[in-house]
Amino acid sequence: MANLMKAPQRQLAFVADLNKCIGCQTCTVACKRLWTSNPGQDFMYWRNVTTSPGTGYPRNWESMGGGYKDGELQKGKKPGIVDYGVPFEFDYTGRLFEGKPGRARPSPTPRSAPNWEEDHGAGDYPNNYFFYLPRNCNHCTKPACLEACPNDAIYKREQDGIVMIHLDKCKGALSCVESCPYKVPIHNMATNKGNKCIGCFPRVEKGVAPACVAQCVGRAMHVGFLDDANSSVHKLVHKWKAALPLHPEFGTEPNIYYVPPFLGPNIEDSVGNSTDKAKIPIEHLQTLFGDGVVDVLKMLHAEREKKMKGHSSELMDTLIGHRSADMMLNPLT
Ligand code: SF4
Ligand code: SF4
Ligand code: SF4
Ligand code: F3S
Repeated sequence: MANLMKAPQRQLAFVADLNKCIGCQTCTVACKRLWTSNPGQDFMYWRNVTTSPGTGYPRNWESMGGGYKDGELQKGKKPGIVDYGVPFEFDYTGRLFEGKPGRARPSPTPRSAPNWEEDHGAGDYPNNYFFYLPRNCNHCTKPACLEACPNDAIYKREQDGIVMIHLDKCKGALSCVESCPYKVPIHNMATNKGNKCIGCFPRVEKGVAPACVAQCVGRAMHVGFLDDANSSVHKLVHKWKAALPLHPEFGTEPNIYYVPPFLGPNIEDSVGNSTDKAKIPIEHLQTLFGDGVVDVLKMLHAEREKKMKGHSSELMDTLIGHRSADMMLNPLT
């Protein structure tokens, strides 16, 4: 039976500008340090950044299913520990204090680990390509995780639309893991509960941006409420329609939006001259963001052209983010 969900009064939303993310993982570490140092959370990265194209985290998440099809909730696959990457420790004690020769050995011998091989890409040199794709819970408007939970343990907060797992009610059913098409909820095997990004709600309640946004080195992230006309998220998502959700066909109406990459280099011909075709194929971007990405790219190029000719462009100024406060601290309270 579908869980009842009251529509929230406001919706917190994130915008990631894929032209500015440099894959530094500062956001990943900020989230990790703040929220996932507890037992059973070693391999958990509520915030993660991988290349696209690439297998992502968990590995091959995009083909694991879930979400909605023709309005019906879909049961997808549950990733295994190997898909997240098996955590390991280096044997520093053996190397430093017990006289074991050579380098400190990892234990168990790793085949993969979280963030292992996160950089992939596609194409052949010199026309190979990739960009970084930061991800966390989308705090969806139609959260498949919420509908899937047989214990009514998932709820969407009225004041900000953040989707939460109520740990006292969670009995480890893991239907949320199967049904989230973004493979965001993760099974904590130490507690037998589902764990996932909490939208940094204690910070948001105080008007402070989530840690992954506040710490972003590339100043690639925006956060705010979608109904706040002064916020950069409102301008980018609703006014300019320059930011698009990832895999809208999954049907959960996600609230992380992405400004598609439009500043990358163009394809080189056989003698190394730049052509007028972008290295990142439009087909790849259409797979991620839908056909609407074609018009968004045209608009971004046109606005950039305007700005380069000395005219004003609110869109370019918003993306540049001259003041950090305009990107993340518009009245969150
Ligand atoms: Fe739920 Fe997944 Fe959407 Fe997060 S991304 S709200 S876990 S369906
Ligand atoms: Fe982690 Fe907070 Fe960012 Fe969620 S919003 S990924 S909990 S830092
Ligand atoms: Fe990208 Fe910012 Fe995260 Fe660095 S901190 S990986 S620039 S989103
Ligand atoms: Fe429900 Fe997921 Fe827990 S389905 S019981 S919230 S693991």
